[in-house]
Amino acid sequence: MGSIIMGFSKMSREEKIETLINHYKLPRDFAERVAEYRHPEKQELFDDFSENTLSNFYLPFGVAPNFLVDEQTYVVPMVVEESSVVAAASRAASFWAVNGGFKTTIHNTLKKGHIWFAWKGPASFLNPMPKSMFESLSESVAPLTEKMERRGGGIMEMNIFELDDHPGLFQLEVGFETIESMGANFINSCLEEMKEPLKQYFRSHIELKQYGEPEIIMAILSNYTTKCLVTSEVKCKIDALKAYSADLNPREFAEKLKRAVDIALADTSRAVTHNKGIYNGVDSVVIATGNDFRAAEAAGHAWAARDGRYRSLSKCEITEDGFFRMELTIPLALGTVGGLTRLHPMAALAQEMLGNPDATELMGIAAAAGLANNFSAVASLVTTGIQKGHMKLHLTNLLKAMSATPEEKEASLDYFSDKTVSARAVEEYLKKIRGK
Ligand code: MEV
Repeated sequence: MGSIIMGFSKMSREEKIETLINHYKLPRDFAERVAEYRHPEKQELFDDFSENTLSNFYLPFGVAPNFLVDEQTYVVPMVVEESSVVAAASRAASFWAVNGGFKTTIHNTLKKGHIWFAWKGPASFLNPMPKSMFESLSESVAPLTEKMERRGGGIMEMNIFELDDHPGLFQLEVGFETIESMGANFINSCLEEMKEPLKQYFRSHIELKQYGEPEIIMAILSNYTTKCLVTSEVKCKIDALKAYSADLNPREFAEKLKRAVDIALADTSRAVTHNKGIYNGVDSVVIATGNDFRAAEAAGHAWAARDGRYRSLSKCEITEDGFFRMELTIPLALGTVGGLTRLHPMAALAQEMLGNPDATELMGIAAAAGLANNFSAVASLVTTGIQKGHMKLHLTNLLKAMSATPEEKEASLDYFSDKTVSARAVEEYLKKIRGK
């Protein structure tokens, strides 16, 4: 068994690097390589976003212009490493901008958190929750909720449920409105603060006290944000799909696309990939605006399986009066203040580019990006396939790796426009034109 490094987090950055080089036999130029991506002026800011920060990890900050969402046009910032995601979103955005745009609906914005506890008494004493209990718990966190209440938020509801199949295990569920913030810190602080008052309430009520004190197990927000739902939808005349339908006629294309979505509604293997294509768009916006993409993904995938089988998050419909319609509904808890949303200079810039939207507007934009990517991906799959688009970007990357000049790049793009791209073929082609 190898030795462990003691006191690593307390070391200076230089000491950490030296220790890592020696302990893990890292290359001697490790220090220079990580230093290369440190920011000359703002590094202190980035260091503090996490722990043991050595450097920064660059990802492309791209943009998809021409997004028309609820009658407003946006240039949507997207942070993503996968080639073609931004191109696919941009193409769909431009198409839908002249075909009615994306319409969004915010169904609700309530976030939930729980205190989990064990108690030996009957659930009927706690459900419905006694009014005095609600009041005393709310009061116990008044110093924390005061500011949020002034903005129209705070604690909206509380309920207690006994776990199915686990008698004696309870969930105190608290519903929060967190307005412009995602609210994770606020929710967790409130819940942790309520733990002792919850016990105190049991102690001071004789009918509860006779069954003993509750044992608090944990307090934490839920990332299953099913009361923070957003729908984005698009609709156009079937004939308008001509721009996307490649060699198919628009009706054939619409029917094929609908079938592809129906397959993802019925089959889990396909649904996971289909939904991954949706999160290509959603996550790119979530990351660009400094929000928590793990939370967004976790909620979305659980929601996709809400009826016991994992299914597509989007639906497609062809109406009798000749319209094509697609919609996407996802749980999405986003913030425009708090966390990194304003602290990260690029996240702040992303929000500025979007006209500093409020949290619900941002939910709509991210859901529109998800639907745009979904539409583009499935449209490609049922027509040309996705490799054609990918290959052009792949070719650009290969040319870059082979140090092609701008002239060589132009000639290669032209030459490979109707040929299969592979590293070997590109290498040979460059050799050929360089030899000339
Ligand atoms: C690739 O990142 C995303 C797709 O696989 C999505 C899909 O299959 O629908 C193209």
